[in-house]
Amino acid sequence: MTAPKNALILIGSPRLKKSTSARLAAVLEEHLEKQGLKVARLYSRKVFASPQNTKELLAQIDTSDLLVLISPLYVDSLPAPVTRLLEIVAENRRGKEASSPKLFAAIINCGLPDSRQNTCALNICRIFARHSGLVWAGGLSLASGEIIGGRPLSQAQPGVRRIKKALEVAAVFLAKGQSIPNRAQQLMEKPLAPWPIYLWMGSIWFYRAARRNKATSKMHDRPYDKRAVPGKR
Ligand SMILES: Cc1cc2nc3c(=O)[nH]c(=O)nc-3n(C[C@H](O)[C@H](O)[C@H](O)COP(=O)(O)O)c2cc1C
Repeated sequence: MTAPKNALILIGSPRLKKSTSARLAAVLEEHLEKQGLKVARLYSRKVFASPQNTKELLAQIDTSDLLVLISPLYVDSLPAPVTRLLEIVAENRRGKEASSPKLFAAIINCGLPDSRQNTCALNICRIFARHSGLVWAGGLSLASGEIIGGRPLSQAQPGVRRIKKALEVAAVFLAKGQSIPNRAQQLMEKPLAPWPIYLWMGSIWFYRAARRNKATSKMHDRPYDKRAVPGKR
């Protein structure tokens, strides 16, 4: 594959600029630009704001050599608007594969502290590439995304340096028209916090959210379990 000259980063989080996905995108963009690529960014949520926006996205994809999807994991899959977007792109790419080959890579981040959670979403992206005549350039999987929590990577805890390095390595390879190497994933997947600490922090986060919503007494409810008694653990 020849080296791409320009790239389009699609951000799949509905949290837009305040998302972890957007913060990862900013770092990847910086490194792709350092490698000499012209980079544009788009939010999948905005693509559906009007039919004109959708048309513009498809046109932008047609003129990009490299596409990178950066998205959160939602219920073990991609967020619904991202799935819809991929369906539209696949439909639009039909018949164009041979005339305009492009690289496609994906970076998925999830909340749980186990990067294997993202495997299904990355496989969806890989299969999407095959159906869209795109050249699959691999993916990166990030766990414990809420430790970044939508903050710029420069303001996040020291362990996040590895994530920046992983994005740099990925950018260098993608800029040469090559797949993201295993080394980048190895850097990306080291846990940001030990499991027990992360679960403890998560419990505090859920408790605070419940308190804000005056729902602490309902935290252990299981409304879909016929045997469960409301309000009892
Ligand atoms: C509706 C919804 C579904 C989610 N489903 C999962 C999931 O199945 N597994 C997981 O590990 N995290 C899940 N998460 C957590 C997000 O993937 C995580 O918070 C991520 O870091 C958000 O990234 P963003 O800021 O780019 O949107 C879910 C979050 C939401 C809001």
